[in-house]
Amino acid sequence: MGRPDGESLIATLDAGTSSIRCMIFGSQRQVLAMHQLEIRRIYPEPSWVEQDPRDIMAKSIECINKAVDDLIFAGYGAENIKGLGITNQRETTVVWDKRTGEPLYNAILWLDNRTADLSATLIAGKGKGQADCLQAACGLPIHPYFSALKLRWMMDNVPAVKESINTQSCLFGTVDSWILWNLTGGVAHGVHKTDVTNASRSMLMNLKTLQWDDKLIDFFGIPKTVLPQICSSSEIYGDIRVSHLAGRPVAGILGDQMAALVGHGCMKPGTAKNTYGTGCFLLANIGEEIKISKHGLLTTVAYQLGPESQPVYALEGSVAIAGAVITWLQKNLQMIDQPDEVDRLAGSVSDSGGIYFVPAFSGLFAPHWDTEARGTICGLTEYVHKAHFARAALESVAFQVCEIVDAIKFDSGVELSRIQVDGGMSHSNLLMQFQADMSAIPVCVPKMAEITSLGAAIAAARAVGCTEFFRGDSGSSSCDSDDYFKQRFLPKITPEERSQKYSYWKEAVQRSMH
Ligand code: G3P
Repeated sequence: MGRPDGESLIATLDAGTSSIRCMIFGSQRQVLAMHQLEIRRIYPEPSWVEQDPRDIMAKSIECINKAVDDLIFAGYGAENIKGLGITNQRETTVVWDKRTGEPLYNAILWLDNRTADLSATLIAGKGKGQADCLQAACGLPIHPYFSALKLRWMMDNVPAVKESINTQSCLFGTVDSWILWNLTGGVAHGVHKTDVTNASRSMLMNLKTLQWDDKLIDFFGIPKTVLPQICSSSEIYGDIRVSHLAGRPVAGILGDQMAALVGHGCMKPGTAKNTYGTGCFLLANIGEEIKISKHGLLTTVAYQLGPESQPVYALEGSVAIAGAVITWLQKNLQMIDQPDEVDRLAGSVSDSGGIYFVPAFSGLFAPHWDTEARGTICGLTEYVHKAHFARAALESVAFQVCEIVDAIKFDSGVELSRIQVDGGMSHSNLLMQFQADMSAIPVCVPKMAEITSLGAAIAAARAVGCTEFFRGDSGSSSCDSDDYFKQRFLPKITPEERSQKYSYWKEAVQRSMH
């Protein structure tokens, strides 16, 4: 029995880099049930990062089932769930055989840098020395981050992939496609689709046509037969046949950073959000016209909320290592027992003791796109102890975001009036204050913590006609209203102090790139 009777509910599945979670929302966007499981990353060699696609799927189903059980336990009727929205870590590449349903290799994660040499070879050869030679078509530089290179690597190095391509049984997908295909019935009935936001991270989709582009496909030598059908971010993709959600449609798909943009209500050009997850991703809505960056940002599809709707684009600054640097302090250096201890440790000193830590574990992403850069610590003296180290790790995230804010200003001439933030590290007051200080812009933390899942729920609600949830084309609730934000951090330091710290950071970045 539903509470209140007949209230339409929306489920979401967020398959991220560090964890998978299912949430069930009520019609007022309140979270009614949630289940989350961590997901293991595998590091077979330095700078290689993988996950087991079977683990992704098993945990997705377990999260869905447990969340639905919790919903029922809370007195709601599961029959009121109208549809599922999927959101996911982007670019991560899965290849499987449609006859057996088995993955042909581990998922190669977005963070994985194994294709650095392939990327350099393509740039030098077909790219005629220009990493940005495809950018006008797909919005992206040639770089290991994107799916096309990961797929090409599997085609060249994994015999099972070559064989299944020969027998036309090979399917490629990002994590959304892998989950969709399995939820909709796999070998017997699996629906092989993706959405425009995920496809826009492959290097194979044309930003204007929103379809696979023959020139891009030829450039990477990818057979068309492996590619999923590209759809909008909000429509019925297929009916679920497994799990406690069997019978409901998958009705929304958005890459996680685009879902966060929608969840934040950044639906007007010039609005921006920054999500601090495993990596950190600042997206600024640029409206319905494509702008190609000249300062190291990506142009990407922000969302297309329905097959008949216009696509909206974003400029994106992607930072590879954000929360991952805290996990590294915890798991590799055992400096802290739990990630949330980092704030207390870093807060026990008033500054970083003069050290600057560039966590370029997977090279550097925006705005540098340097695959060879490596983690670097500058300014070490005997004075420095682990609290300074923790503080420098937190500060490194804010400095990287500053470089993105600068690039947005240089590209668009727009000075952001605020940054709306979410993700695990947005709970760190120390980081948020430092972010406001260093980027010289207010940093605003919304009351609603589950912004990414909310974005996926909005996309799904729109497709299944839950109008009370999807409030017209303004999307999310008004983030201009006073009670929308939980906290606002205002810049406090002087421009001189800021520029001195920032120049030391830039020096450290230069050193990490040599
Ligand atoms: O592009 C990678 C991104 O989608 C990963 O997001 O939140 O798992 O760090 P997250």
